[in-house]
Amino acid sequence: MKVAIVGASGAVGQEFLRILAERDFPMDDLVLFGSERSAGRKYTFKGKEYEVKLLQHNDDFKDIDIAFTSAGGSTSEEFAGTITKYGCVMIDNSSAFRMCDDVPLVVPEVNAEDALKRPRGIIANPNCTTIMMVVVLNPIDKLSHIRKIHIASYQSASGAGAAAMAELEQQYRDILETGSTTHVEKFPHQLAYNVIPQIDKMTPNDYTKEEMKMYNETRKIMHSDVRTSATCVRVSSLRSHSESVWFETERPLTVEEIRQALKAAPGVTLEDDPQNYVYPMPLESAGHDDVYVGRVRKDLADDNGNTLWLTGDQIRKGAALNAVQIAEYLIKVGDVK
Ligand SMILES: NC(=O)c1ccc[n+]([C@@H]2O[C@H](COP(=O)([O-])OP(=O)(O)OC[C@H]3O[C@@H](n4cnc5c(N)ncnc54)[C@H](OP(=O)(O)O)[C@@H]3O)[C@@H](O)[C@H]2O)c1
Repeated sequence: MKVAIVGASGAVGQEFLRILAERDFPMDDLVLFGSERSAGRKYTFKGKEYEVKLLQHNDDFKDIDIAFTSAGGSTSEEFAGTITKYGCVMIDNSSAFRMCDDVPLVVPEVNAEDALKRPRGIIANPNCTTIMMVVVLNPIDKLSHIRKIHIASYQSASGAGAAAMAELEQQYRDILETGSTTHVEKFPHQLAYNVIPQIDKMTPNDYTKEEMKMYNETRKIMHSDVRTSATCVRVSSLRSHSESVWFETERPLTVEEIRQALKAAPGVTLEDDPQNYVYPMPLESAGHDDVYVGRVRKDLADDNGNTLWLTGDQIRKGAALNAVQIAEYLIKVGDVK
């Protein structure tokens, strides 16, 4: 088994290295790729050094079985043909192919089998905020079909990549040292001491692309007609996204039914004792695999509604971990070359 990471120097790429090592992913060799910015840089994996190769249109992927790609949508679009040409399975973290009919969009806890039908050799990893939400809502949907979801997200700086994390830290340093910052590049406004109610570009219906990903990708992953209305907000936590989720089911569900379903759900940890100040928070979920849920309660404005709070490390379950779990599933069912 030969594995490639495309975008190895990035926030998600670095997490791939940690997760593949932690999970002792069954592989014999590793190849790292990047642009000219990181080509030649060396990273250590399981005690051995690997040098980043320049991603080019050549035969470098001929012997590679699985490529984890996290180098942005335009790189994925440009290089998909090169990567998959000789049968390598491309598990792509960008949004480039997520809504293509001939590319499965997979969260293993929800729709692992979809990964088996991939005419183009590409499997798309969904949007991070969507992954974490469907891991939690899928077991509830099995109790009673979810018709509607309203959500407000609280997304950390790292969702915009490694340079964005550095920008937030620099902004705090600037402000504390000089009283202001001009270091505003990766976000549309200063993020330090602020929240920004826009993630990604606006679309013609006044929702952002991130918010429309939540609408469209949730339906595709869950094979559902559910309608999702989201407001996605950037907050100044460094790592781990949080979400406040209101959902309406076909029949009214009790809080206890929901708690039981969540306790039994793979990839979910229930931390719900608010009387004792126990609920999930991003500082604690950072670096962990599960999506953490708390504040489960009835929706006061909707008899068929309930509401909950969730938080999870979006670089792990929202990106690298989910992709590695897809690969582990393919290996388990013997569906990789
Ligand atoms: N951060 C998250 O929470 C998250 C979650 C889900 C999905 N994603 C998606 O994952 C992808 C990577 O995100 P990130 O947060 O890791 O971004 P990042 O920290 O900015 O890293 C981007 C990576 O892409 C590489 N890259 C850019 N252009 C390239 C090219 N032409 N050829 C080869 N490599 C190239 C960069 O390599 P160089 O340094 O060599 O340029 C770098 O390794 C994006 O598509 C993002 O939407 C991110």
